[in-house]
Amino acid sequence: MRDDTDRLLPATPVTSLEQHLEAGGGTGLERARSLTPDEVTAEVDAAGLRGRGGAGFPTATKWRGVRETAEHAGGRLSIVANAAEGEPGTYKDRTLIEQQPYAFLEGICIALHASGADAAHIGIKASFTRPLERLQHALDEIVAAGWFGADRIAIVPGPDLYLFGEETGMLEVIEGKLPMPRLVRPFEAGLNATTATPNPTIVNNVETFSHVARILANGADWFREAGTEASPGTMVFTVVGDVPNPGVYELALGTPLRVLLEDIAGATDIKAVYSGVSNAVILEEHLDTPLCFDAMSDAGVGMGSGGFIVYNRDRSILDVLSVLVNFLSVESCGQCNACKLGNGAMAETLANLQAGLGSRTDLESLLRRAATVTDQNRCYLPVGSQLLVGSTVAAFEDELIETVEAGTRTPADLPTPLIVDIDEDEGIVHYHDRYHLRQVDWSYADEDPTAERLEAIRRTD
Ligand SMILES: Cc1cc2nc3c(=O)[nH]c(=O)nc-3n(C[C@H](O)[C@H](O)[C@H](O)COP(=O)(O)O)c2cc1C
Ligand code: SF4
Repeated sequence: MRDDTDRLLPATPVTSLEQHLEAGGGTGLERARSLTPDEVTAEVDAAGLRGRGGAGFPTATKWRGVRETAEHAGGRLSIVANAAEGEPGTYKDRTLIEQQPYAFLEGICIALHASGADAAHIGIKASFTRPLERLQHALDEIVAAGWFGADRIAIVPGPDLYLFGEETGMLEVIEGKLPMPRLVRPFEAGLNATTATPNPTIVNNVETFSHVARILANGADWFREAGTEASPGTMVFTVVGDVPNPGVYELALGTPLRVLLEDIAGATDIKAVYSGVSNAVILEEHLDTPLCFDAMSDAGVGMGSGGFIVYNRDRSILDVLSVLVNFLSVESCGQCNACKLGNGAMAETLANLQAGLGSRTDLESLLRRAATVTDQNRCYLPVGSQLLVGSTVAAFEDELIETVEAGTRTPADLPTPLIVDIDEDEGIVHYHDRYHLRQVDWSYADEDPTAERLEAIRRTD
């Protein structure tokens, strides 16, 4: 039976390989090595593990698909572990790496065995200095201990860009380029692919690999003791925003969202909640939805990577929408016109409305832009903008019309919810403090260009 000690997040951080082994670590890899690659994949399949990086895609299906491509089309199969953690409102991957890097690495070693891949790369932001140090230390230890596959794992520090976390953007960075998403998915064409050698690549999230280690150690039935039939196991969630207890919490999938947000994080008076920036707004009416992939998507919202940003009733919804759309506008890479121009136009409209400029027709133009922002999209980023804008304008139409028609200026004081650190003892979240200076070409301005422009407009009012 599972108990609290069976969680991914340990009660106290595991800081040495010795501690990991004392707590039963290493047995997942040992068991995997006693099985054939197909048997390991079958165990992950039986556990029903679904990816924790955002889409909830079944992990074993991905692994099998990559092997099939390699068998039919050829090339060298490889693995990428996605530790970019660029989704606003999410902090669980860094927490897992800092508190239990060995389970993550063990999961990668198991995947190397199950897939027959040549090598594994871990893509992680260079700015995540503490997790990077912990990870390098743990990797050095398992290499020294002679763990299977450990000497074929490379850590690749990457840029502070949202698209570094998009799986094909990450492949580009590992190849030494900017994270410009590709048209073809990694399971079809992976690292250093050519037409003759597609090199299919498995990309999985930090938490996904960490669960793999526990599944092999304890078995699929054990994993299924928590969670629901279609979303088994636990998941590590993040809650930030207007809550007294922001933090990272591991819960069984299927737990009602209300338990996480209200009972645990202490939210009251919830107005709007966003699970990152790729899903529709979550409202009071959704709070009793079980936290599992299908129930959340059936409710029309979505769980993403389990990072929730809570806004209470004191907040202006215009400010909320503006700060989230600005993030997507800045992070869009510009390979697809409708995405870069559409997100830019929406961000500008929202900034003007925050300054009390504009009219009701601007809300209509926002909706028109949201409808076309995904045209010919290479990646999922603008789908997020479409869902965010469409659902938020629909849910808060009255408030938005009232604010816009009255020409009310909003406080415009919300930080972009990119988490740098969470002090759970003090209940304080530190956000990226220079994001307001970030420009659409991914450089940083010396001064906030929007503020300057809006101030000039205000002076001429
Ligand atoms: C714009 C964008 C950003 C993303 N950022 C991340 C990220 O930071 N971390 C992550 O694990 N997945 C991220 N993803 C999802 C990955 O593309 C990919 O689906 C995931 O790493 C697969 O892992 P999983 O199957 O274990 O969930 C992002 C996707 C998009 C479209
Ligand atoms: S959809 Fe947007 S973010 Fe994605 S590749 Fe195209 S321009 Fe870049």
